[in-house]
Amino acid sequence: MKKKILIISGGISKERLISLDTGQQVAKELKKNGYKIKISEPDNNLEKTIKNYKPGVIFNALHGQFGEDGYIQSILERFKIPYTHSGVIASSLAMDKEISKKLFIKNKIKTPKFITYSYDISVSKLIKKIKKKFKFPVVVKPLNEGSSVNVYICSEKKVTRIVNSIKNYKKIMIEEFISGREIQVAIMGNKKLGAIELKPKRKFYDYEAKYNANAKTEHIIPVDLSKNKLKEVLNIALKAHKVIGCNGVTRSDFKFYNGIFYLLEINTQPGMTKLSLVPEIAAYNGISFIELIEWILKDASKKK
Ligand SMILES: Nc1ncnc2c1ncn2[C@@H]1O[C@H](COP(=O)(O)OP(=O)(O)O)[C@@H](O)[C@H]1O
Ligand SMILES: [Mg+2]
Repeated sequence: MKKKILIISGGISKERLISLDTGQQVAKELKKNGYKIKISEPDNNLEKTIKNYKPGVIFNALHGQFGEDGYIQSILERFKIPYTHSGVIASSLAMDKEISKKLFIKNKIKTPKFITYSYDISVSKLIKKIKKKFKFPVVVKPLNEGSSVNVYICSEKKVTRIVNSIKNYKKIMIEEFISGREIQVAIMGNKKLGAIELKPKRKFYDYEAKYNANAKTEHIIPVDLSKNKLKEVLNIALKAHKVIGCNGVTRSDFKFYNGIFYLLEINTQPGMTKLSLVPEIAAYNGISFIELIEWILKDASKKK
């Protein structure tokens, strides 16, 4: 008999709607294939739901804060029921762009230069600091957000306004701007699944470019890279997956400029709607949506 699956989706992060979509689509696909499923929010009733429903596997369909950063994972650890994707530590390392970038650098993985800012010095001093380290425009972003929420490309003129407008984060990151191509790589366990290129029509691959079909971001697969360059970027993504200690499926986001791949981040809870990038890369490589989901469920029980 097929296992009972509990899907957790929604949550409190800014990516709530995307997570609900991931949850719905995974649920639909599993139902179609004969699984018994239940969908739950990660709220106060979750513990009761898990105890009553007794799922064989928990599918974590959450994105962003509380769902992708080790918090929900540490709650799920208590139940001794396999849950999908990465565990507590890998999730929290990957979600923190400062820590993960330090780990990338330590392991010789190229990532854009950066500084962090905790609103402890004036913005004019920050601007001086930026100028010493790199040039404008810069990219201003939160340390632990996703879906390009509050990511800004800023000229010197704009930086004060932007930095002040996201003060609620307490600590943010300022990165050198890397122009060039946007390439993302999916890793599935130890397997280098493949890569895709995104060509946004907008200024960059922002929230609209990611989720609004009217923004008409072009998805290019197979990516137009030489055999060697493709191998190189796939290897970097696999290395990042291992360095962080990830499980299941991850998606690494790169900028490719002047022959160099710059790793922006690794995502431990990549979008899993039929139109998301990991399923698209999987499909191109002959793995259907249900096969991908079933592999993720199976992999959940392999977590150490
Ligand atoms: N240093 C950078 N240089 C150029 N573009 C960037 C840089 N950092 C982020 N971006 C743009 O912003 C998008 C989102 O940034 P990313 O670091 O992946 O954060 P998120 O977790 O929100 O996806 C990227 O896909 C890219 O288009
Ligand atoms: Mg990203």
